[in-house]
Amino acid sequence: MSEGNLNLYFDNAATSWPKPEPVYGAAEICLRRMGGNPGRTGSTRTIDAERLVYRARACLARLFHATEPSRIVFALNATDALNMAIKGIVNPGDHLLYTAMEHNSVLRPLGGLSRAGLISTTMIPCSGDGDPDLSFMKRSFKPRTRLLIVNHASNVCGCIAPIEEMIEIAHRHGAHVLIDAAQSAGVLPIDVQSLPVDLLAFTGHKGLLGPAGTGGLYVRPGLDLKPWREGGTGSYSEMDQQPPSMPERLEAGTLNSPGLAGLIEGVNFIEKTGLEQIRNHEMKIYTYLRAKLAQIPGIKLYGPAEPSRCTAVLSFTMEDIDCGELGYILESSYGILCRTGLHCAPLAHQALGTFPQGTVRLSPGFFTRKEDVDYLCAALEEITALRSC
Ligand SMILES: Cc1ncc(COP(=O)(O)O)c(C=O)c1O
Repeated sequence: MSEGNLNLYFDNAATSWPKPEPVYGAAEICLRRMGGNPGRTGSTRTIDAERLVYRARACLARLFHATEPSRIVFALNATDALNMAIKGIVNPGDHLLYTAMEHNSVLRPLGGLSRAGLISTTMIPCSGDGDPDLSFMKRSFKPRTRLLIVNHASNVCGCIAPIEEMIEIAHRHGAHVLIDAAQSAGVLPIDVQSLPVDLLAFTGHKGLLGPAGTGGLYVRPGLDLKPWREGGTGSYSEMDQQPPSMPERLEAGTLNSPGLAGLIEGVNFIEKTGLEQIRNHEMKIYTYLRAKLAQIPGIKLYGPAEPSRCTAVLSFTMEDIDCGELGYILESSYGILCRTGLHCAPLAHQALGTFPQGTVRLSPGFFTRKEDVDYLCAALEEITALRSC
């Protein structure tokens, strides 16, 4: 067994790999042949690059059922989009609500704004499975509550938040809702109209199967954010402030055209394959993995067991072995890649009871096979057996 010559990827929650073949090709073609800066001057290359960016906007608008592509604002990643949303919407004196399952890309901007005395916040506690306490949430709204931030699907234990109900409650209290879809875009169906969501931050390099350096923010029509980043747009160049029109109001600087070319192909792959088929496959693998892990002595599993309540993200710990050490053994002796530690979500680990040591996180993807799970579980059984000798 312990040859270490395989390279099995169980870290799709960090970034998806491999990508569908056309993703690589589209990014390369864009880099080699396009060479224009979208929106700058009127050369044919520039216009081609601009068309590409528009196609990317349109395909994400279609995926999320947004009526206007101009309400999709491109960003570097989900972190960038979350910062853009939070810093663009708050006013001094506002109160914000967030759940214990949030990522540091939410916790740190909130921490910074709170430390500067600009806002106050309340954390909604979550159960040991990651479910937010909705009765606590209902009691926590204040007259100045401006925003509720919810991680749609946990990057620690896969738990899916009841966002429909949470949006309904928040809107009843006059608050806006920002959904962190870093782990759910391309994984779960998202319809921004029927939800109805005010702001949705997504990343391109995880479930959307695109390259790193891509992501964005959906901003509901009628909602105006203060620009978080200011600079050149190729339009309204006589003005010393961001243009009023979207998406330029929130987008400044040269966009990542090769990344967006790849992202279009990632979304095309999802649409051609079918989101339902992708989810069915991932949850079949997840269920198989969870059942096999449950049989290994000394392993403790976290998060909801029912596949309908989670995505294919599974955290576990093994008795008498540090998570980091286990991750190291899995990679160095078996060629298995996973993620260990706190996964940038310390409060989620406090809810799960795994703080500060964290967990080992396994996140299979659409390209993970049953044989990969068999190999992984055989490796874990071997490690357990060797340690009990
Ligand atoms: C729930 C969640 N939010 C935000 C992020 C940040 O995403 P990105 O790395 O694209 O900025 C991640 C990344 O792991 C995440 O899992």
